[in-house]
Amino acid sequence: KKTENQMLVIFGASGDLTARKLIPALFNLYLANHLPKNFAVLGVSRSNLSDESFRDRVVYESDYLKERMKNLGKEEIKGFADKLYYEDLGKSYDTDYKSLRKRVEELKAAHDTTGNIIYYLSTPPTLYETIAHNLAEAGMNTQNNGWKRLIVEKPFGYSSETAKNLNKGLHQYFTEPQIYRIDHYLGKETVQNLLVTRFANSIFEPLWNRNYIQHVEITNAESVGVEKRGGYYDKSGALRDMFQNHLLQIVSLVVMEPPIGAEAEEIRNEKVKALKSLRVMKDDKTLFENTIRAQYVESVVNGKKVKGYREEDDVDPNSTTETYAAIKFYVDNWRWHGVPFYVRTAKRMPTKVTEVVIHFKEPHHQIFKEPSMHSKDNKLIIRIQPDEGILIKFGVKVPGQGFKVERANLDFYYSSLAETYVMEAYERLLLDAMQGDATLYARADEVEAAWEFVDPILNYWQKGKDVRMYGYAAGVWGPENADDLFDGKGFWRNPGEN
Ligand code: BG6
Repeated sequence: KKTENQMLVIFGASGDLTARKLIPALFNLYLANHLPKNFAVLGVSRSNLSDESFRDRVVYESDYLKERMKNLGKEEIKGFADKLYYEDLGKSYDTDYKSLRKRVEELKAAHDTTGNIIYYLSTPPTLYETIAHNLAEAGMNTQNNGWKRLIVEKPFGYSSETAKNLNKGLHQYFTEPQIYRIDHYLGKETVQNLLVTRFANSIFEPLWNRNYIQHVEITNAESVGVEKRGGYYDKSGALRDMFQNHLLQIVSLVVMEPPIGAEAEEIRNEKVKALKSLRVMKDDKTLFENTIRAQYVESVVNGKKVKGYREEDDVDPNSTTETYAAIKFYVDNWRWHGVPFYVRTAKRMPTKVTEVVIHFKEPHHQIFKEPSMHSKDNKLIIRIQPDEGILIKFGVKVPGQGFKVERANLDFYYSSLAETYVMEAYERLLLDAMQGDATLYARADEVEAAWEFVDPILNYWQKGKDVRMYGYAAGVWGPENADDLFDGKGFWRNPGEN
């Protein structure tokens, strides 16, 4: 695909995401020769920085690029840094963007970038609409002299209503095809590989339904706590921070029907249909029985004392924000009728891991003597991170007399394919947006459908005292009660175990 000459304007350029993710992604694209010939980046923010101090901050003195720059020549690094500029907006994003427009025009002329521009919104979300409005006021959204695109960071909304309002707000100034809502999980190779596994093989799809699948389980675990983001996290929680976006995106790829083709709209049409078919939990009894929330409490992990969530910086000591969420739900369509989905996400787990486990039904008629608990059913495990790959668990005969069945693994590691460099999520997604490919970005109706499912759970949990809040020691696989979701018929598979 062709990457046309263009400019990237990053709002919120003095923030953490720019230094940690965006600039390193651009740097890698530059080194791999993926940036267009004529290209410039304008960082915009409220901090008082010059072009030089911005370059120092995000390139020359950046901890995030240190490793990468080690063996590179000065000229090579300078070649990248010289494409970066900075514009101080003064005290507020709510100012007149005339001077910003002038700066953009100057850079456009200096670098011959044409009028193609991506605006990347990486500010606090309350500013998204303001910025879109101000860009329009200054005539910077018009497409008569080159396309304009808007990349919007998460969180996209705080609830169903706020997400809808935000969509409405942005649509006043940018059309839907111009808007790219980023979800970095979609930029992960193995998340994309879910589509390939399902639709480029004939051996999985025929079994991918209620006739053969017992249940689906998705685990997303992080070993870190809330780190320095207590202020943000305490107002958000696991459900908003991870589940509404990243996990429901994964769910939609597992659940969706085969698209008619691999074009952005073809895939997104199916994803939105999938999200709309998730059964929304309406009454308190259903919500009580199918949702579990918890917070990590103080513990000792690898010999080190680890704070409990309520003791973290910038977290309310009486906080009822969940750091663990486990949800059981059903999908109301022909394919998935009656198949339970179990999805959990949490911080301060024993390890960092994300995986999808498809549990197949046991053979209808068992002719061999019951072996061990773990060899009863077949499992397909899609490891999203780390050790990306696919694992199939199936029964084999133990050599020797009789028919003793044991579990064997057919294990594929993605790394064995990666002779060439595999792009990191932000690289993939930035390059896609530069090329006008929105396949891996969330559409307005997708985001709204995801919120529709999450909203009642959030509202129910907000009832506070009436709703159970469990504790789990930092460094374990969450509260034991989370197994209750399986109604005595199973339990969570802790990654790495059978
Ligand atoms: C972000 C969340 O979207 O995803 C963070 O805000 C979380 O809380 C992060 O740590 C996890 O991303 P990854 O790619 O490390 O799994």
